[in-house]
Amino acid sequence: MRLNDRAALVTGAAQGIGAAIVAEFVREGACVAAIDRKNDIEQICRNISGNSGKAIPYVFDITDHEAYARCVEEVAKQHGKIDVLVNNAAISFYGDIFEDSVEQWRETHQVNLEAIYWGCKLAAPYMAKRHWGRIVSISSTQAIATEGRVGAYAAAKGGIISFTKSLAVELAPHGILANAIAPGCIHTPMSIIDGVDETQTELFKEWYVKRRKIPLARPGEPWEVARVAVFLASEDCSYITGQTIVVDGGLTSTF
Ligand SMILES: NC(=O)c1ccc[n+]([C@@H]2O[C@H](COP(=O)([O-])OP(=O)(O)OC[C@H]3O[C@@H](n4cnc5c(N)ncnc54)[C@H](O)[C@@H]3O)[C@@H](O)[C@H]2O)c1
Repeated sequence: MRLNDRAALVTGAAQGIGAAIVAEFVREGACVAAIDRKNDIEQICRNISGNSGKAIPYVFDITDHEAYARCVEEVAKQHGKIDVLVNNAAISFYGDIFEDSVEQWRETHQVNLEAIYWGCKLAAPYMAKRHWGRIVSISSTQAIATEGRVGAYAAAKGGIISFTKSLAVELAPHGILANAIAPGCIHTPMSIIDGVDETQTELFKEWYVKRRKIPLARPGEPWEVARVAVFLASEDCSYITGQTIVVDGGLTSTF
């Protein structure tokens, strides 16, 4: 088991990639504080860990700084440590610069970037105390290449990549490694826009699958991102820090 007895926090854990990360972490022996603003997280934790108590639900909004601080304190008290933080929760919307609003920009940055900064600020001192820690933040290929209409989201996801580099430099002397993952098209509720599953449209099938805009010719599954998170959270990741691992079936290698 690669994460035996590790104390981990995972945000945005009620569905999609976050839920898959909690499941893989528990399978690898970790105790996970599974955070989401949706109550569904309670059922998800029951499904994943049964009676083992390895996935514990915490229901709050990560933009609520006090609630987040209470959670981190409670987890640290319970386990006597915090080993791993996975910054996964995010929101998105579609709209170009003519349509979107400054409120949408702010909300996106509060959830997708500021809350990541805040989570790291809360967790890093506990990791530093034991001279061991892993921070894994979920960015996006939208930070690298985009079709537009995602300005606030892409900027926040690009911010994660830059923030991760700075964190890696600052935290290396404390035994803490910080890396990011940039998923491409992953089959989750986030890929359903206005009731339409983007990975099932004719356009997607024609361009991304048939013409192999995604060389592996399919969307990714949440567990395929979660396995990379397990690696980055484990001892196997010992000489990688400040990096962003792209998990996109080759999407960003094509043009
Ligand atoms: N699905 C994709 O194709 C894809 C591609 C690239 C990157 N990503 C990134 O992967 C991560 C997970 O994506 P997903 O597709 O599983 O998303 P999702 O929308 O399916 O799940 C996100 C979860 O985060 C929670 N959440 C959102 N805001 C929150 C807040 N303020 N406080 C607490 N919880 C909150 C939601 O309730 C939800 O359960 C995100 O960072 C996303 O940007 C996803």
